[in-house]
Amino acid sequence: MTASLLSAQRVLITGASSGIGAGMALGFAEAGAAVVVNHFGQADAAEAIVRQITDAGGQAVAAPGDVSSPADVAGMFDIAAERFGGIDILVANAGIQKDAAFTELTLEDWRAALDVDLTGAFLCAQEAVRRFRRQGLDPARSKALGKVLFTSSVHQVIPWAGHANYAAAKGGVKMLMETMAQELAPEKIRVNAIAPGAIQTPINMAAWATPTAKESLMKLIPYGRIGQPEDIASAAIWLASDAADYVVGTTLFVDGGMTLYPCFARGG
Ligand SMILES: NC(=O)c1ccc[n+]([C@@H]2O[C@H](COP(=O)([O-])OP(=O)(O)OC[C@H]3O[C@@H](n4cnc5c(N)ncnc54)[C@H](O)[C@@H]3O)[C@@H](O)[C@H]2O)c1
Repeated sequence: MTASLLSAQRVLITGASSGIGAGMALGFAEAGAAVVVNHFGQADAAEAIVRQITDAGGQAVAAPGDVSSPADVAGMFDIAAERFGGIDILVANAGIQKDAAFTELTLEDWRAALDVDLTGAFLCAQEAVRRFRRQGLDPARSKALGKVLFTSSVHQVIPWAGHANYAAAKGGVKMLMETMAQELAPEKIRVNAIAPGAIQTPINMAAWATPTAKESLMKLIPYGRIGQPEDIASAAIWLASDAADYVVGTTLFVDGGMTLYPCFARGG
């Protein structure tokens, strides 16, 4: 039961106009949070999420912006301040893939993935922490001064041929998260990450859109099904809530067992 776990709290979710971010926006709103739905060039999709939330009696606002632009990032937090008076939770979720074999990977695509997946996460987290400090602790909202949650990936630990930029960025997110958590815990700022396995969203359509691709994917998932955005949302709601107040610097893998080396179930 997640209802009211986040009542009185305000969350900014980046990349919330599709996939996991959209699922989290809906889930966080259901759990009582006011939601800032960041999007980058997907205004209609973001407005549809906002409408879905407000039609159900929740609170939400769309906030355009590129997570790799410091000015855009400040703008998203300004919208949160204007509309909801501040922010208690950041979910740094926006991400892209620019896949290529290692020697074919262009500098442009290397930089594009690092810019959004790692630098974007850094910029949003830095702005969030500055805002948490300015706001001060409000025990009526949360036991913590603020919470930062990164959407990382199983590829923060599983190497991934053909995706060196993405895996490097997610490995970077792991150490960014742990270093921030160590540095900021004394101020009662909780920093954690969720590492999804294969979730059915636009980013990885090639992995599930055909029966052959899906069959091959299932060999990597002991639990026998592809994940859904709601699987990530329910874990994220708990991690961001006071129910997880003593959880600091952890990566929660939500992956149907993908990180359990499934090939070893049949040999080794
Ligand atoms: N789907 C999976 O299997 C899976 C697995 C592990 C991790 N993840 C991670 O989950 C996160 C969400 O991905 P998803 O699966 O929902 O895919 P998605 O493509 O639906 O979502 C990514 C979102 O990020 C947004 N975005 C891209 N560039 C941006 C920018 N510069 N500024 C702001 N927003 C930007 C996109 O518009 C989109 O809404 C990503 O960080 C991804 O790496 C996904």
